[in-house]
Amino acid sequence: MLVVEAKGLKKYYDGVKAVDGLDLEIREGEIYGLLGPNGAGKTTTILILLGLTEPTAGEVKVLGYNPTREALKVKRLTGYLPENLGFYDDLSARENLRYIASLNRIPEREARGKIQEVLELVGLADVADRKVGTFSRGMKQRLGIAEVLLKDPRFVILDEPTSGIDPEGARQILDMITRLREERKMTILISSHLLHQIQRVCDRVGIIHRGKLVAQGSLGELSAVMEKGTHLFELKVSEVTDELLAKLRAIDGVVSVDAEGDTVRIEARDDVRPQVSRAVLESGVDLLELKGHAYTLEEVYLRYFQE
Ligand SMILES: Nc1ncnc2c1ncn2[C@@H]1O[C@H](COP(=O)(O)OP(=O)(O)OP(=O)(O)O)[C@@H](O)[C@H]1O
Ligand SMILES: [Mg+2]
Repeated sequence: MLVVEAKGLKKYYDGVKAVDGLDLEIREGEIYGLLGPNGAGKTTTILILLGLTEPTAGEVKVLGYNPTREALKVKRLTGYLPENLGFYDDLSARENLRYIASLNRIPEREARGKIQEVLELVGLADVADRKVGTFSRGMKQRLGIAEVLLKDPRFVILDEPTSGIDPEGARQILDMITRLREERKMTILISSHLLHQIQRVCDRVGIIHRGKLVAQGSLGELSAVMEKGTHLFELKVSEVTDELLAKLRAIDGVVSVDAEGDTVRIEARDDVRPQVSRAVLESGVDLLELKGHAYTLEEVYLRYFQE
């Protein structure tokens, strides 16, 4: 079952191609990362999925509904955390949620228990009666997720949920997102330009650039595509000397050599490990480790953008 099915999606704003022929499929129960740099078209894509803006061309279904013609049905089943949250600073976290619950026509009695439940889920129960104006950005973001959860959505869309949040706060939010998928069987779409943070929680990612999806798949699949033609190695030695670096660079097939601390990264067109270990020996330093290096999403992403 596909939660999102989009084909040839386009959105043009006089002259600007915000989305330009996007195909997107999100499967039930997965965490999908929509990744791309600023201005790539992530938010515009999300607004189309929610029926908040109409596509210029293309077809899209969310949970089987057309977001333009059946916007209410999509909105009822989908929770959305926008890029910029709007809470009332003078109201407490609990009061803000109470207001949202009334907007969503959740009966007051039911709302009370539910609000407590979602506050506990996002770790804000202790500060629930403090004014939101005193909250940090990370706390506001967690309150935003609590708001999304109030209506028990089947599909959750989070636009840049960790942007502007320190690494520890981001880790907490991402752990929470992973737990939600497991405990509540939700399908989750996360948009972000922060690859290194997002990659560990996503089952699949789509890389969007200038309104087009340039790559899609699990991190393993994307790495495999890239690995054709290039080999990466990580070398640890007792001491990185200029002599060693020169010898490594001189190996036939080596494309680049970068040193950082006691680690050297080597990119080559072939498996040059035998030549590398010989170069280390000849340089008179000790070989501590030599291994093939798996691509990080950051590297995958940069590679696609360079092309
Ligand atoms: N309402 C609008 N009117 C005109 N141009 C727009 C509008 N909304 C977005 N754009 C343009 O469309 C392109 C894609 O914008 P979008 O907000 O979807 O990118 P994004 O990937 O979400 O970026 P960010 O990481 O900065 O949030 C940008 O060039 C932007 O300037
Ligand atoms: Mg955006």
